[in-house]
Amino acid sequence: MDVAALVSRPLRADDFAVARRVVDDWFGHPVGLVMHRLFFEQLGPSGVWLEDDAPAPVGFLLGLVSEAEPDLAYVHMHVVDPAWRGRGVGARLYEEFCARAGARGCSRVRALAAPGREASRRFHERLGFTGTMRPDHLGQGQDRIVYERGLPLLR
Ligand SMILES: CC(C)(COP(=O)(O)OP(=O)(O)OC[C@H]1O[C@@H](n2cnc3c(N)ncnc32)[C@H](O)[C@@H]1OP(=O)(O)O)[C@@H](O)C(=O)NCCC(=O)NCCS
Repeated sequence: MDVAALVSRPLRADDFAVARRVVDDWFGHPVGLVMHRLFFEQLGPSGVWLEDDAPAPVGFLLGLVSEAEPDLAYVHMHVVDPAWRGRGVGARLYEEFCARAGARGCSRVRALAAPGREASRRFHERLGFTGTMRPDHLGQGQDRIVYERGLPLLR
């Protein structure tokens, strides 16, 4: 099945249980409360769910529009089924998220990456983000690269 044929929609509350079943395997480690239920139940209209025609999940993105900075769209996490990687699914998640956030008035998008997560770093750099290293951003020893770029997301 082609990436363009995947069905995209906002997140729903009942997607949480499905995501919970796959997310640790997809990430390669336990994700825990980073994938908080509130992103599905309370922030679902901001997020993105991609599925095939089974329908089976292919990838999803948890994000929001900042209350403190209403022009800022913020990606909390995104993940793609390993069997689908390298085909533009992650980029499509971002395109959908950014298009909806842009329609709501956002002019920039931000995401974090741990310095050791090569795939995430390369992904954001390929999508035109600029990263700034923030030592101890998430606590002592928890450095993060803060990636940001303007909207619209044109590649
Ligand atoms: C990061 C992730 C979402 C990328 O998904 P994907 O569907 O493979 O990404 P895409 O195919 O859309 O790639 C988009 C661009 O990023 C680049 N990219 C993606 N993964 C890459 C990797 N591992 N190494 C180098 N470049 C990579 C691609 O080459 C592509 O650039 P191009 O179009 O110029 O060739 C996926 O690897 C993943 O789910 N990883 C585990 C979870 C994670 O780290 N999430 C991010 C932090 S929350």
